[in-house]
Amino acid sequence: MKKGKSKVLIGLQYGDEGKGRVLDKILGDEHFDIIARFNGGANAGHSLEINGQKIALHQIPSGIFYPDTKLYIGSGCVINSEKLNQEKQDVINLGINLENRLYISGNSSLIQPHHLLLDRLFGNGVGTTMNGIGPTYSDQGIRAEGDRIKNIKLGEYLANREFILHVKENLFETVSRYRDLIEKRIEELEKSNLTKESIELRKYLDNSKLMEIVDRFETETRKLENHLSTDPLFLQNLIETGKNIFFEGAQSTMLDSITGSVPYVTSSRTLAAAAYTGGDLSMKNHDKTLAVCKAIMSRVGNGPFISEYGGEESEIYCADGNGKTYVKEVELAKYDPYKLLRSENMFEIGIGLRILEGEYGASTKRPRRVGILDLVMLKQNCKLNGVDELYINKIDSLRRFKDSSLQGIPFVTSYELDSKTIDYVPSTIAESKRTKPVITYLPFFHEDISGIRDVSCLPRRVRDILEFIEEKVETPIHGIGVGPEREQFVRIR
Ligand code: IMP
Repeated sequence: MKKGKSKVLIGLQYGDEGKGRVLDKILGDEHFDIIARFNGGANAGHSLEINGQKIALHQIPSGIFYPDTKLYIGSGCVINSEKLNQEKQDVINLGINLENRLYISGNSSLIQPHHLLLDRLFGNGVGTTMNGIGPTYSDQGIRAEGDRIKNIKLGEYLANREFILHVKENLFETVSRYRDLIEKRIEELEKSNLTKESIELRKYLDNSKLMEIVDRFETETRKLENHLSTDPLFLQNLIETGKNIFFEGAQSTMLDSITGSVPYVTSSRTLAAAAYTGGDLSMKNHDKTLAVCKAIMSRVGNGPFISEYGGEESEIYCADGNGKTYVKEVELAKYDPYKLLRSENMFEIGIGLRILEGEYGASTKRPRRVGILDLVMLKQNCKLNGVDELYINKIDSLRRFKDSSLQGIPFVTSYELDSKTIDYVPSTIAESKRTKPVITYLPFFHEDISGIRDVSCLPRRVRDILEFIEEKVETPIHGIGVGPEREQFVRIR
């Protein structure tokens, strides 16, 4: 790569495509001077592993293991100070330095205590991660209510002690507005024996506990002072001196707040173009867009998923798992996944695949809904983001279909909407619900490919699959994952 360029990496489906492992691979092959985040907050998450050391990052950009690399959290992100400090501590405990290395844009917005409360009260319908993401971005739009500032930027908070008062008023005002609802929720939780959650909610009804929350917010946010970056040209100046920048996207294209499956989306822009507005750089030096998808698709939370195994039945089943039953353990104990794979019922095949593929939320353990690789969506999202390099994880998992009742390896190649064939993802929920996937089957492959590292060693049928995907999505595949481990990766180009 030439000097003074930037690359962007994003996800093409519903998140959890394994962006982290592709990123790991790329950072191992190519040096970047800065790794930057441009959207989201602690709702994102990926695990890094090096020399047996494991760490889960949520807000800190990847690249912590490369000491010469700076880490930047852009203005498009939202900051949970307490969680960020905890994460910093986890990194420091690994012997990694973050001083003069981690920079946070002063224009990023703070996730205030009332945002966390609002997500607790209202996030269920969308199935959010309860990190206060939606309410924080929503307050960016609201800006202020009268004299009370609702959207508080990190830089503003640290520069002006008056903002402590706004944080307090925002919390007290929200509690008094929703007191009845909080009480009702506590009652419901106690009836269902969800006491931990009810204890958390009870804190909001106790004024001294509320003050503790405000004070903790203050202490934790002050701890970020050393990392504050107030120069809007921070990255621009670095790129002009020949430094390379890598933008790491969080969430994914289908979760984009405007073009995703609204309202079942996150609250930030997730498309590649957002890297520049949320990452605080002009797009003049953009080099390439890299994107990741997964050969067996998954989605957490509610909302349309046209290629889902078992359709609505699966959506309802997985939603029920959110809190009521601990579905991961229940499923593992109850089912023989190989038997489910041989079922004629797509819903059961989906459960079998989820168990075999371990498709459960990394922190929440929520069961992920699973689906067939949807090439209509993939093509649309490659075009929408202008993808130069496509990476596909879990290609090895496609081998599982040889043990299934299906006639071949399934791919969604078009849709039917109201008896018409369409080749785009409908933009409304109503149409998405009426849309049926049209499936093309390719021949099974029998070889275990998890040990392959060289493209020339891939079996003919696997290469045929890759060619088929490339032709359908009109985007070159640059790498594939053939297993969960860092090195189980094959470069195609
Ligand atoms: P929020 O971003 O916490 O508001 O959640 C909104 C929706 O986005 C929910 O369906 C979440 O499950 C989903 N979501 C948010 N972050 C991620 C992610 O990193 N991976 C997958 N889904 C996510």
